[in-house]
Amino acid sequence: MKKEIIVIDGPAASGKSTIAKIIAHQMQYMYIDSGAMYRCIALYKIEHDLNIEQLIKQINEIKICFTLDDKVYLNNIDVTNKIRNKEVTSIVSEIAKESEIRAYLVKQQQAYGLNKGIVMDGRDIGSVVFPTAKIKFYMEASVEKRAKRRYQEIISNGDQADYLNICEDIKKRDYEDMHRLNSPLIKVKDAIEIDTSNLSIDETVNKLMSIIMEKVK
Ligand code: C5P
Repeated sequence: MKKEIIVIDGPAASGKSTIAKIIAHQMQYMYIDSGAMYRCIALYKIEHDLNIEQLIKQINEIKICFTLDDKVYLNNIDVTNKIRNKEVTSIVSEIAKESEIRAYLVKQQQAYGLNKGIVMDGRDIGSVVFPTAKIKFYMEASVEKRAKRRYQEIISNGDQADYLNICEDIKKRDYEDMHRLNSPLIKVKDAIEIDTSNLSIDETVNKLMSIIMEKVK
């Protein structure tokens, strides 16, 4: 079977990473969560109390890596859970607008794809990072469904959540990601759109896998 690059773009909380992880596992591909990389930069900014100019100056100090069990390391420290916190989530779209930050991360993302056999999810993976990839998906779901899933995820981790706040955060992040100048979230022409509003995880995986298997034949 040929190795390919599988791209999954889409708005916040559309289930991309859950599905991408399962698909990577089934295909025995590497999974790269590009959003986690932007989250690492946001966490670094918070922890070092930097403004955007200072952050850009220090960008080369920021080393991000992923392990095979999907842990994320920022300068050798496991930040897998920390990068999901509210503070990081609230500033990540702000830092993701910056072209220097995007260029720094896009270069690393493209390096991960050199040998193919990779699933990467994000916002600009099909448009900027791997525009010539043969397998591209755009994953959508209604804001209400996405907020409900995120709410249930937080509650099931034993944390407190406010559904309306989550809804507002998702809408705000979608707006910022879709309307920024640099690499906005778009559905590229050759991406296959999958609306997961009424699909379970298994149904979504099966749908994507049947398309992938046709394309890697
Ligand atoms: O996917 P996730 O919600 O973790 O991404 C966090 C943020 O990182 C997004 O809201 C977006 O602003 C930014 N991002 C991006 N380009 C990507 C992936 C994420 O701008 N490829």
